[in-house]
Amino acid sequence: MKATTVLAVVCVAACLSIHASALSPFGVGRSQLHKKRWWSSVDVNDLHKYHLDDDPQGYFGYLTQPMDHFDPLINKHFNQRYWVVDKYWKSKSHPVFLYEGEEAELELGEVAYGHHAEMAQAHGALILGLEHRFYGNSTTKEGLLLSELQYLSSQQQLADLAVFRVFAEKKLGMSGTNTWIVIGGSYAGALSAWFRLKYPHLVYGSVASSAPVRAQANFEGYNEVVAASFADPIVFGSEKCVASIRQGFSKIEQMKQAGQLAQIVKDFNTCQDMTDPNDFKTFASDLQGTFMSAAQYNYIEGNSSSIGTLCQQMMVPDPYQALVKMFNPGSTCSDVSFKDFLKLLTDVTFDPGAMSRQWFYQTCTQFGYYQTCDKNTTCMFLPEVDLDYYFAWCKGGYNIPSSDVLEQVNFTNAYYGADNPRGTRVIFVDGTIDPWHALSVLKDLPEGLKSVFMKGTSHCADMAPNDPDAPPALKAGRLEIEKIVSGWLMQAEMEKKHK
Ligand SMILES: *[C@@H]1O[C@H](CO)[C@@H](O)[C@H](O)[C@H]1NC(C)=O
Ligand SMILES: *[C@@H]1O[C@H](CO)[C@@H](O)[C@H](O)[C@H]1NC(C)=O
Ligand SMILES: *[C@@H]1O[C@H](CO)[C@@H](O)[C@H](O)[C@H]1NC(C)=O
Ligand SMILES: *[C@@H]1O[C@H](CO)[C@@H](O)[C@H](O)[C@H]1NC(C)=O
Repeated sequence: MKATTVLAVVCVAACLSIHASALSPFGVGRSQLHKKRWWSSVDVNDLHKYHLDDDPQGYFGYLTQPMDHFDPLINKHFNQRYWVVDKYWKSKSHPVFLYEGEEAELELGEVAYGHHAEMAQAHGALILGLEHRFYGNSTTKEGLLLSELQYLSSQQQLADLAVFRVFAEKKLGMSGTNTWIVIGGSYAGALSAWFRLKYPHLVYGSVASSAPVRAQANFEGYNEVVAASFADPIVFGSEKCVASIRQGFSKIEQMKQAGQLAQIVKDFNTCQDMTDPNDFKTFASDLQGTFMSAAQYNYIEGNSSSIGTLCQQMMVPDPYQALVKMFNPGSTCSDVSFKDFLKLLTDVTFDPGAMSRQWFYQTCTQFGYYQTCDKNTTCMFLPEVDLDYYFAWCKGGYNIPSSDVLEQVNFTNAYYGADNPRGTRVIFVDGTIDPWHALSVLKDLPEGLKSVFMKGTSHCADMAPNDPDAPPALKAGRLEIEKIVSGWLMQAEMEKKHK
């Protein structure tokens, strides 16, 4: 049957908010650090729109990697999964597009479909995908133990990519003159930029979509962009909408100040009485998560968008009641227990679908990226979700003190160059609606680091396949990427001839 050849159908923002609380241990409200793109593969009913056939014709293999590339005395290994999609590959010397996996299982659909696949087809290129260590099937049974997580870092993953790059060239019998382009989105976008910057002899160029290359512990900019996006008419937001959202949240704050916590508990039907400050912060985090996801994964259709829909719900005489309705739809109470959340974060049971324990470990040890809502910013939500709340995750989940987090975030920026790196041939692709753009490169930098900054688009929007109904800014952005990548491939051919 035709439909069976297409993998997991698109999981759009709408289904994200329904499923995420069940699928991810931290729930959608606490999932703000989860940056998976809004589509993972193409709906079979939409295939006619794209110039792609519906059979990915991919296969996978495993490569045995050292657990620690930088300490030869550690004699531990793991098997890393990779994907091969060779149906467009014209000859053993044609280009190779290396798709970097993110902080999750890497599925064939993600490797085989998308804008990069269309470019691969146009250039007769091979597509390879490498799953990130410690996620999906690229981990071990002990992978969630703290003693193992020490081998989980962006530097180790870049070294994995280097080993894989050399391995694949041999394994697939390449001519050795192939031009390699590395591609990724979100955290994997940052990895893709860093791989080009740190290993320029291994890949010729990089497309880094929605890449938060600047690490930051207190990532206030995230919710500032969320507020700006909800005010943006391009996605059916408005100043009036922002005012309504603020009004709803400030009523909760006023009630709390006035000692009416019990009424909040009753209205929102939380399972806990929220007298523990971290429970209240967890509640605040869940509440703002709905709005954060809508901006990050904003989905536009006809005259509406995820942002527009939430605005419609909020622009009513009593925005507080709108929040109540949104958060308390049923008869079961909402679990906002911080203790229960930590239990999930500390669970070391092996599960190839799990990603939260690993990803939060990475935030505590390298990136921060904590989406706070501080009073002194334009954040629309409760001024509760602060840096100390996230530091309590690092402490409770892994016994990592806040001073270590701050030190490691500084190291990450010193090591990679934050949003002012030096190097050549990287495209940083971002969207104005995507809150993560605040940590990316939004201007061309010297020596050929390019920025494509699109009006009205969200997280990793460019990575989906070309859709004839896409907004003009997105179409123009993709075209720009195609032009630059074609230019690189031509330049590489010229350089080979002159050798
Ligand atoms: C990944 O791991 C799961 C669970 O161990 C297994 O069922 C599945 O077949 C594996 N997938 C691949 C492609 O190896
Ligand atoms: C969008 O709204 C305009 C004006 O309200 C209307 O004319 C148009 O048909 C709508 N388009 C869609 C796709 O709903
Ligand atoms: C807001 O206050 C926090 C501490 O409460 C501080 O870390 C941050 O830098 C301040 N942000 C701005 C934009 O002033
Ligand atoms: C991190 O860098 C910032 C800015 O350069 C500096 O103010 C701070 O003291 C550093 N923190 C640590 C823990 O190194």
